[in-house]
Amino acid sequence: MIRLREVQKSYRQGERTTVACEVTSLDIAAGEHVALIGRSGTGKTTLLHMLAGILRPDQGTLSILGQDLSTLSESDCDRFRGQHIGMVYQTFNLLQPFTALENVLLGALFGRGAGADAEERALHLLAQVGLEDRMHHLPSQLSVGQVQRVAVCRALINNPELVLMDEPLGNQDKATGGQVLDLLLQLARNNKQTVVMVTHDPESATRMQRTVDLATLRRVSS
Ligand SMILES: Nc1ncnc2c1ncn2[C@@H]1O[C@H](COP(=O)(O)OP(=O)(O)O)[C@@H](O)[C@H]1O
Ligand SMILES: [Mg+2]
Repeated sequence: MIRLREVQKSYRQGERTTVACEVTSLDIAAGEHVALIGRSGTGKTTLLHMLAGILRPDQGTLSILGQDLSTLSESDCDRFRGQHIGMVYQTFNLLQPFTALENVLLGALFGRGAGADAEERALHLLAQVGLEDRMHHLPSQLSVGQVQRVAVCRALINNPELVLMDEPLGNQDKATGGQVLDLLLQLARNNKQTVVMVTHDPESATRMQRTVDLATLRRVSS
């Protein structure tokens, strides 16, 4: 499902180049639920964005579902993501002028979930995460936990093979975040989806089948 070899991503700031993320070798099988764990600033978001095809590695090979993302143009990468990947961003990235339901439907617009039954599926997903009475609320009218649940629905609307999640417990109390994560994992199990979560929190990692410490994937452990 996922295969990385000698992947590296650096950021340049003036004269200085810092290696933000380095992965010597990582394989994740279809259907696995994996936590990638590391302290703040160790490149977790950078890695997740590379897995999603939002960022390109400077070096190395990265393939998802047998597709080497580095061979795709930017627009083909976007299309590939829409077809196969669902992403729950660290900051959720809901569009503020749109309701919960509209935000989920916007996810379908860019993926294979577009179609006559998109609204029905969006309503079903929102009901599954307990938001049946919040469909028409704006993000600003929702709690952090509710916003996150909308973001989870948006990530799942296209029934992607791969679900990526950034710091699911990062922005809220652990009990609420834990419930959302358990819900996502339950839905993913039902749909045989692969889930990759990045987190700094060893406790949330225990909910996953496998945990990989990003420090062990660097050439020189930091
Ligand atoms: N756009 C950027 N420009 C320059 N440096 C960046 C940028 N994004 C991230 N970094 C740096 O790369 C490192 C890894 O960042 P990030 O992937 O966000 O880590 P994490 O998600 O583990 O906290 C950090 O040192 C961060 O400061
Ligand atoms: Mg991060």
